Amino acid sequence: MQNPSAQAPRVAFITGGAQGLGLGISRHLLGLGWKVAMFDIDETAGHEAIDTLDAKERDRTLFFQGDVAVEADIKLAIQQCFDRFGRIDGLINNAGIADPHVPNIEDLEWDQWQRVINVNLGGVFLATKHATQHLRDTKGAIINIASTRAFQSEANTEPYAASKGGIVALTHALAVSLSGAIRVNAIAPGWIEVGDWQKKANKTNPDHSVADKAQHPVGRVGTPNDIAQAVSFLLDGDKSGFMTGETIRIDGGMTHKMIYVD
Ligand SMILES: NC(=O)c1ccc[n+]([C@@H]2O[C@H](COP(=O)([O-])OP(=O)(O)OC[C@H]3O[C@@H](n4cnc5c(N)ncnc54)[C@H](O)[C@@H]3O)[C@@H](O)[C@H]2O)c1
Repeated sequence: MQNPSAQAPRVAFITGGAQGLGLGISRHLLGLGWKVAMFDIDETAGHEAIDTLDAKERDRTLFFQGDVAVEADIKLAIQQCFDRFGRIDGLINNAGIADPHVPNIEDLEWDQWQRVINVNLGGVFLATKHATQHLRDTKGAIINIASTRAFQSEANTEPYAASKGGIVALTHALAVSLSGAIRVNAIAPGWIEVGDWQKKANKTNPDHSVADKAQHPVGRVGTPNDIAQAVSFLLDGDKSGFMTGETIRIDGGMTHKMIYVD
C-alpha cells in the first residue's frame, strides 16, 4: 500500500484496551481524533468500555475479543482492524497479567512461569509480527508498556520482572531491526491506579494513604492519563521523531528515591 493521506484519522491498535491503562490510552487517543481498535481477552470489559463512549467516539472504535498469547486471535484482529479502518498507524502493546506476585521460586510451576512470559512478552512479539507490514505502510510507531519492575523488584515476582525486562530489550532490538520504517519505544510505568478503570464487577474506589503518596517525589500515585499523555507523544513523529529504542520511566520519581531503613 500506497501512501495513506496524512489527513485521514490515524488508527491505533491497543492490546488490553478494555480496562486499566489500556482503556485510559484508548479514551485519550479517541479524544485526539484517532480511530481505536481495542483488543482484550475480557469480552464483558470490552462491551462495557464501548458503552462508556459517546456516539461519535463509538463510531471510531472497534472491539476484538482475544488472547494476545494466541497467534490466530491477534492475527485475525489486526487483519480485521485493517479491513475496517484501512490503515494502522500505532500499535500499543499494553496487555498483560498485571499482578506480579507468584509463589516463591521453588514452588513456582513451569506452567505459571510460561503463562506470564507468553502473555506479557510473547504477546508483544505476536502483535508486532502481525502489525509490522501495516505500520511500515504508514511509517507508524510501536509503544510497548513495560514496568519499573524491569529495573527493581519485590520478592516472588520473577516471571513478571523477567517479562518486563524482556520488553525493554525487545524494544531496542525491534528499533534497530525496523530502523527507517517504524519507531519502537517503551514506557515503564510505576504505580498507576487503575481500580476505577475496571469493568463494573471489579471497580474499586481508590484511596491512597499519606504514606502511599509520600513515597512518590511528586506526592501522588499515577493515573492512566499520565501514561496516555506519553503514548500520544511517542506516537507523534513531529514531537518524538528522534526517539527510538528508548524506555521512558513514568513513576512519579519513585525509582529515584533512595531508601534507608532506620
Ligand atoms: N497499573 C500499574 O501500576 C502498572 C505498572 C507498570 C506496568 N503496568 C502494565 O500496564 C499494562 C496494563 O496494566 P493495568 O494495570 O492497566 O492492568 P489491568 O488488569 O487493569 O488491564 C489489563 C488488561 O489486559 C487484559 N488482558 C490480560 N491478559 C490478556 C491477554 N492474554 N490477552 C488480551 N488481553 C489481556 C485484561 O483483560 C485487562 O483488560 C500491563 O502490561 C501491566 O503490566 C501496570
